[in-house]
Amino acid sequence: MSTNKQLSILPGVPRVARYLSFSVTPGADPATTRATVQALNMDEQIAVGIGESLLAHWGAKVEGLRTFPAWSGPAVQIPSTQQALWCWLRGDDQGELVNRGIALAESLGNGFRVQETVDGFKFGSEKLGKDLTGYEDGTENPTGDKAVAAAFVGEEQPGMSNSSFVAVQQWRHDLRRFGKMPQTEQDNIIGRRKSDNEELDNPPASAHVKRTEQESFTPEAFLLRRSMPFADAHSEGLMFVAFGQSLDAFEVQLRRMAGLDDGITDGLFQFSRASSGGYYWCPPVSDGRLDLSAACDVRA
Ligand code: HEM
Repeated sequence: MSTNKQLSILPGVPRVARYLSFSVTPGADPATTRATVQALNMDEQIAVGIGESLLAHWGAKVEGLRTFPAWSGPAVQIPSTQQALWCWLRGDDQGELVNRGIALAESLGNGFRVQETVDGFKFGSEKLGKDLTGYEDGTENPTGDKAVAAAFVGEEQPGMSNSSFVAVQQWRHDLRRFGKMPQTEQDNIIGRRKSDNEELDNPPASAHVKRTEQESFTPEAFLLRRSMPFADAHSEGLMFVAFGQSLDAFEVQLRRMAGLDDGITDGLFQFSRASSGGYYWCPPVSDGRLDLSAACDVRA
């Protein structure tokens, strides 16, 4: 049977979004939880990712999926808050998203429990949108065929083709601290000028775009980032979301950001910290439903 990509991954970020992550209720029946996930209506307004623990609950595994690692770099922490299931609801209307989130949780039934809900939004009217620091986010994202190659497993892996993997990481900013920094210091943290989004000629080694420069890795580490700002009563920052044909590109970038390669930490840590981290497999879609056939049975 031919499969398609999840339709929500390639388009740019929506106006508003709701991120929901779920755990599996202890004692839930694997056949029932699998059937409820498989019954989700996969239109262009939802992306769904499956964590390693949900696959294990089904007695299955997927090549290339692992649990998000917890790391410590020089003075920085990278936490893992891996969940079983992750959903990204996209839309134009916050109220509609709230109701769709409730309907989603109801349709998943007693086998799943909502662990976290985060509301995201697009900042700015430009096509790409900005991080809350005011810097455009997504400039160096691959586009067209390159975006497809970066984000989706190709035909060379039959069964897995049109799958994607997603890394999800919530970053909480200290915007007051960032706002007090001189403009040059802010630009040096990112490695671009806020005024015109141009890359700096000689950015410091700690500049975020130096740490993550996709062509500088061997092999090259391209990602399709679809991050969005979030804000709630307690904090604000970036819901970092990146799709990849594997998790490796994200992981090598994060290692370098955390100073695990050369002891130099990303300038972003001066005003932001990661407070979550999860890895998920985004299965392909057949006839508007998730196609889980690539998840092989490890009990056989
Ligand atoms: C506080 C969290 C983060 C913020 C505010 C942020 C913001 C930005 C900004 C403003 C840019 C420059 C424009 C662009 O090309 O998009 C950028 C580039 C980039 N970021 Fe981030 N980012 C964050 C976290 C991350 C993480 C966790 C990763 C991956 C582990 C990452 C990967 C990248 C990549 C690959 C680029 C493009 C680099 C290049 O090839 O030039 N970012 N980010």
